[in-house]
Amino acid sequence: MQHQEDKVVLVMVGLPARGKSFLAQKICRYLRWLGRDARVFNVGNYRRERVGQHKPASFFDPTNPEGNQARQRVALEALEDALRWLSSEGEVAIYDATNSTRQRRRVIEEACQRARRQVLFVESICHDTSIVESNIRETKLMSPDYVGSSTEEALSDFRQRIAFYERAYETVDDASQSFVKVVDGGRQVVVNRVDGPLLARVVALLLNSRLTRHTIWLTRHGESVYNQHGRLGGDSELSPRGEEYARALASQFTPPPPGLAVWTSTLRRSMQTAALLGVPGTEWRQLDEIDAGICDGLTYDEMKRRMPEIHAARKADKLRFRFPQGESYLDVIHRLEPLILELERQTTPTLIIGHQAVLRTLYAYLVGDPVESCPHTSLPLHTLIELTPNAYGCDERRTLLTRRAEERPSIIPG
Ligand code: F6P
Repeated sequence: MQHQEDKVVLVMVGLPARGKSFLAQKICRYLRWLGRDARVFNVGNYRRERVGQHKPASFFDPTNPEGNQARQRVALEALEDALRWLSSEGEVAIYDATNSTRQRRRVIEEACQRARRQVLFVESICHDTSIVESNIRETKLMSPDYVGSSTEEALSDFRQRIAFYERAYETVDDASQSFVKVVDGGRQVVVNRVDGPLLARVVALLLNSRLTRHTIWLTRHGESVYNQHGRLGGDSELSPRGEEYARALASQFTPPPPGLAVWTSTLRRSMQTAALLGVPGTEWRQLDEIDAGICDGLTYDEMKRRMPEIHAARKADKLRFRFPQGESYLDVIHRLEPLILELERQTTPTLIIGHQAVLRTLYAYLVGDPVESCPHTSLPLHTLIELTPNAYGCDERRTLLTRRAEERPSIIPG
């Protein structure tokens, strides 16, 4: 049967507390950042809405007919919604549930086949009990299912729930199906019958994702000579105010957190900002600022006066506008894709010293902001952004480390 490769259902599989929702959200964020319309359909949320949130472990007992029926009903409802969404605007539906029996997966596969959608099963398996334990403590105890329960009650009920699922659990083993199995948070990844560029990207993400979560700091370089004059691009040095920022940044990271990785672009203002950190930096060409092509070195006023059509076109669609002989924000996103995978592989805290446009796109990926709005995100100079991962996203803290001059807005009004 003919499938549309760009309309796909990713079906999560695994026991509770195996990081399925974490992976589902991550895949969703990544695909959206790459411009694909992706959405997670979480069956747990459907259950909480339709059947109520405080369900005891016995509700999940495979021999409990009422519980089984109710779970089956909400699971099918979520699947129907996912397929309906795909038949309108959606491209990739991520169906997040345990889907832990062959029979359940067959039902899903048949429904997707009828709708002519391709299916990829994404199974998360954990042999390492410490991963399961930390998943339970970091995410499940905060779940709305356990509001009002003590930690001990919640732990014991949730362990019981897992035990019920274990009784009925069957791993994905049908060689005729497309699947990826992620074992112990990426220590082993098994790939079967995965075809096409979109699914290959999902697999690449899963191959590179680590379960360890660490802080990421983002900062623009200190003020440069070009910043002082409001000029685009170039490779100018830091101004005295920029040097002051480099000193403040170094004292902020004294002593550096264990294993700190420092990433810079290959431009002087970025490397000079890192110079006093006492940690050798890695220079990434991908982190260089957006290439302003024939506008490089101009101020925004000069651009508007000398090339009014370029100014107007950029104002009309800043995300897609490509500077003649230069880049667009979308081009920047595409060149950053390998760097994102490298960032996902990191197991230690990372400080990235970049530039306005490049950091706007990285920031959108990390916090899950829509790509459409990223060219307008406010990322002022001399501000350190700390992103600390939480269960499914990250907490953000911004600190202005040293004074800065007002910057010209990048689009001159009118
Ligand atoms: O003004 C500093 C800067 O990094 C320029 O080098 C670059 O062209 C610009 O910001 C990108 O911001 P915008 O896309 O808003 O013009």
